[in-house]
Amino acid sequence: MPVIISNEKNLEFRPAGEEALKELFAVYKECEDFLALGPVPTASREMVRADLAMSKTMGGRFCGIFLRDGRIVGVLDFVPGNYRGQPDTAYIALLMLKQSFRHQGIGSGALVLVEQEVRKDPRIARIRIGVQVNNPSAIQFWQNRGFRIYAGPELLADQTTVYRMEKLLSPAAAAGS
Ligand SMILES: CC(C)(COP(=O)(O)OP(=O)(O)OC[C@H]1O[C@@H](n2cnc3c(N)ncnc32)[C@H](O)[C@@H]1OP(=O)(O)O)[C@@H](O)C(=O)NCCC(=O)NCCS
Repeated sequence: MPVIISNEKNLEFRPAGEEALKELFAVYKECEDFLALGPVPTASREMVRADLAMSKTMGGRFCGIFLRDGRIVGVLDFVPGNYRGQPDTAYIALLMLKQSFRHQGIGSGALVLVEQEVRKDPRIARIRIGVQVNNPSAIQFWQNRGFRIYAGPELLADQTTVYRMEKLLSPAAAAGS
């Protein structure tokens, strides 16, 4: 039984795969403004399937982001550790919310939850992410939450150009100070 990750407030990450294709596709459809920043602007079930397959390859945990009332509001794909063979590194491969649910604190809440989850492995020292250079509001979002650009711009195989960003997780922060 897959583990549902949740906080005491409103958010739940529910592991999602092929069986949730319809719900995941609905999220992608409402994120075409974001997809338009990349090479394929139109959402499709094939796109969702390709992301699910890529997640498996990377050791990712592909999840739907749900409100407690059962509504799906976004998708998250994260690698909890051992990203690119580095035991101390977690990675957020995808965080994407339906347009109508943005700027309400859900993305921030999801990041808190991801941090809580990856910290369960005491070796994790950093969370990394690749952010498209043509997505300034996302760059701002991550910078406002402790991430900094450490490399890039870099052209990826999927033809997006990204900054590599990371947040260092200090042991002090892990203790809640
Ligand atoms: C980027 C993204 C995940 C951020 O999630 P979000 O839920 O919109 O972000 P939040 O609401 O937590 O925070 C965004 C801003 O809204 C503000 N905000 C939060 N709650 C708010 C509210 N109730 N009213 C008004 N503003 C609010 C926050 O203060 C924050 O501003 P700040 O960065 O200056 O502090 C989301 O916007 C998204 O899915 N965008 C499209 C896909 C994308 O770009 N993904 C990132 C790829 S790297």
